[in-house]
Amino acid sequence: METRIITIPPGPPSSSKNTDPSLGAWSPSHPPLTLWTLPSPPTPSLAALAPAAALLRTTPVPVAFPTETVYGLAADATRPAAVRGIYAAKGRPSDNPLIVHVCDLSMLRALVPDGIPEIYAPLIARFWPGPLTILLPLVPGTLAPEVTAGLGTFGARMPASALARSLIKMVGAPLAAPSANASTRPSPTAAAHVVEDLRGRIEVVVDGGVCEVGVESTVVDGLSRPPAVLRPGGVSVEEIRGCEGWEGVVRGYEDRAALGAGAPRAPGMKYKHYSPRARVVLFERGGRLDDGGVGEGTVGVIRTRGWEWPGCVVGGGEVVFGGEVVGEGGLRVKEGRVVGREGRVVGREGRVLDVDLVGDVKGVAHGLFAALRELDRLGADVIYVEGVDDDGEDIAAAVMNRLRKAASEIRSG
Ligand code: TXA
Ligand code: MG
Repeated sequence: METRIITIPPGPPSSSKNTDPSLGAWSPSHPPLTLWTLPSPPTPSLAALAPAAALLRTTPVPVAFPTETVYGLAADATRPAAVRGIYAAKGRPSDNPLIVHVCDLSMLRALVPDGIPEIYAPLIARFWPGPLTILLPLVPGTLAPEVTAGLGTFGARMPASALARSLIKMVGAPLAAPSANASTRPSPTAAAHVVEDLRGRIEVVVDGGVCEVGVESTVVDGLSRPPAVLRPGGVSVEEIRGCEGWEGVVRGYEDRAALGAGAPRAPGMKYKHYSPRARVVLFERGGRLDDGGVGEGTVGVIRTRGWEWPGCVVGGGEVVFGGEVVGEGGLRVKEGRVVGREGRVVGREGRVLDVDLVGDVKGVAHGLFAALRELDRLGADVIYVEGVDDDGEDIAAAVMNRLRKAASEIRSG
């Protein structure tokens, strides 16, 4: 199967926002949501989406599309054959449920005839459209059984990306979509990442540029008491806690607890996820990059906080930088050599690849998956990552959650 990229011309739809009056009616205590609706006649951007929408309506082959978090691999959530196509293309175990993407609340209401539970009202008003997924009771017969993997609930999300919502609206059905990576690989944040993983397995990638957020949506369960965050993501726990009814939200994901009392985790113990081919070594906050690695070949380094050149020592030598490679979405990778005291290159290769994500933690989230992929592509054998401080409840929790899953080894500071 040949994989085509459909590049969407810039401009509208994202600029053409208006208020959809049907959204204001659902809860009088919350202001209407601002939502984009399809302009008529369609803009060039929308016309370019038409072939993708047609594939989604009629074939069992999934279509990759951009959202503000990561690229998704979509199928009509009401057609079993189409949803099975997602699992086949990704090589994903079918016991892992998929998120259902809607373009507006009326599409969602059709799936929840008894109404959207009131606990979600403040979250929807504040974060939708956006990187938040809510669990809802499943009404049998509304979605293909393959979407929910036998659970009594389904995850729903209204993406902020106007392109994503346009595609859903054009298909006229909710779209089930996991991240568009091959199973176990880092999530894709650019169309080229999808092509890298799924070339030959799908027909179309809709290219909407680089994803803004860079980590997946936050998954919340408001059906349990107390309500829980099941996966940290683009909306922070802090922001959720600020909403009425969510003050007591608990972290329902295994993370710091799984880490134990700072002991390095055995390489075999990891649940493989978000992983590049290179071995990932995560330094918890305060960890210093001051040992080993060069004997392992090419060393990738992702700096996020305090690691600096010169100052970081790799394999007992200083790193001298030469060239720079600009990867997908403008991600810059500096290339250097480790030079020992006598001025000779140290180790088997002595090659170092450096990605600078130092800055605010949103920038780390934005660049993280792209950095892991780019270092892989450039031949890193091991990637040392400087962890961020996730004591608070900001997006750092999502960053560290993904990194802990990607890492084969965790070193404490
Ligand atoms: O940002 C995102 O959420 C991206 C984009 C494409 O929208 N999608 C995404 O999908 O990350 P995926 O399939 O890679 O992750 C879905 C997550 C999984 O952790 C899954 O277990 C959880 O959502 N999930 C989905 N439905 C669920 C349910 N009914 N109960 C509990 N967890 C659920
Ligand atoms: Mg995923």
